[in-house]
Amino acid sequence: MKLLVCGGAGFIGSAFVRRRLASTADSVVVLDRLTYAGNRANLAGVEQDGAFADRYRFVLGDIRDAVVVNHAAQGADAIVNFAAETHVDRSISNADDFLQTGVVGLHVLLEEARRSAAHGRPLRLVQVSTDEVYGSVASGAKTEDDPLAPRSPYAAAKAAGDLLCGAYHETHGVDVVITRGANTYGPHQHPEKLIPLFVTSALDDLPLPLYGDGRHRRDWLHVDDHADAVGHVLDNAPPGTVWNVPAGEERENVEVVSRLLELLDKPWSLVRRVADRPGHDRRYAMDGSRLAALGWRPRVGFEDGLAATVAWYRDNRAWWENVRGPDWQRWYETQYGSRLETSTPA
Ligand code: DAU
Repeated sequence: MKLLVCGGAGFIGSAFVRRRLASTADSVVVLDRLTYAGNRANLAGVEQDGAFADRYRFVLGDIRDAVVVNHAAQGADAIVNFAAETHVDRSISNADDFLQTGVVGLHVLLEEARRSAAHGRPLRLVQVSTDEVYGSVASGAKTEDDPLAPRSPYAAAKAAGDLLCGAYHETHGVDVVITRGANTYGPHQHPEKLIPLFVTSALDDLPLPLYGDGRHRRDWLHVDDHADAVGHVLDNAPPGTVWNVPAGEERENVEVVSRLLELLDKPWSLVRRVADRPGHDRRYAMDGSRLAALGWRPRVGFEDGLAATVAWYRDNRAWWENVRGPDWQRWYETQYGSRLETSTPA
């Protein structure tokens, strides 16, 4: 297949590109705007490997630009869309970019798929979405048919995108499939997210800002599993379908943090209880039986995945120090400055 991978320089997108090139004969065009979270270094392994030279190309550009998308999609069989703003806390400060990429940008991709099919060239779109569209789950696990109930501006932008995909499938017959992944962790994740923030901060003996009581629950999916699940859906799912991608590794934040401190041999006293995230979802949980019936299940257990991830951040300081530029410093100060001043021991 020929793939256009949007957001392919990001955390999950770059894992998908690496793994897809290594395990199939597909060719890949990456389209990425290289915002603060898109990082060409994530693709260095691919770009420096001569074996992929004739099957890989990078295009710097924005999915909101229909001309750029149209050029990049020439000859493609499928678009796989990882492009998104993804950090809930940033969406609370300012949701504009979330809507621009998650709704306006996605609309451009849907139009590209619609036009391509109308010209006799079928073009599948895989939209990479999130469990956050279901909102906070008090008990049980959400199935793909449950209603969407997003509670953060980020999650609302993703839910809007999912609805737009459904509408384009129903109205225009666009071949679109949606994946909804659980909390993803692993190498190359931007240090704004819980696990990389706490690992990199602990390595430098900096405080670890735990929101609220730390008893929020997340299901932790390794990035390689997330990438492979997207590939499995791309290859096997019928048009117009939605696929939960859970890991079955639900943990409270306090459990995750104490485990990573053990792995780093750092003390719990680094952890500070800080003011909670507004609208903080208590728990995410998805039912994965639909995807299991399609023949996919995760392979990486949380214990092994976390140990390998901690080791990767310990061994790749240059990668994350490079990511923590002026934008990062500003973000850290705005997000954590006054919270840490008023923090208490956890
Ligand atoms: O569930 C899938 C989602 O997982 C993705 O759609 C999002 O793009 C991704 O960011 C992630 O969302 P979360 O909000 O769950 O991830 P985050 O790493 O920001 O936070 C995980 C938990 O840790 C959450 O309960 C908030 C808490 N937390 C997070 C940060 C950054 C803290 O206690 N302190 C922190 O500094």
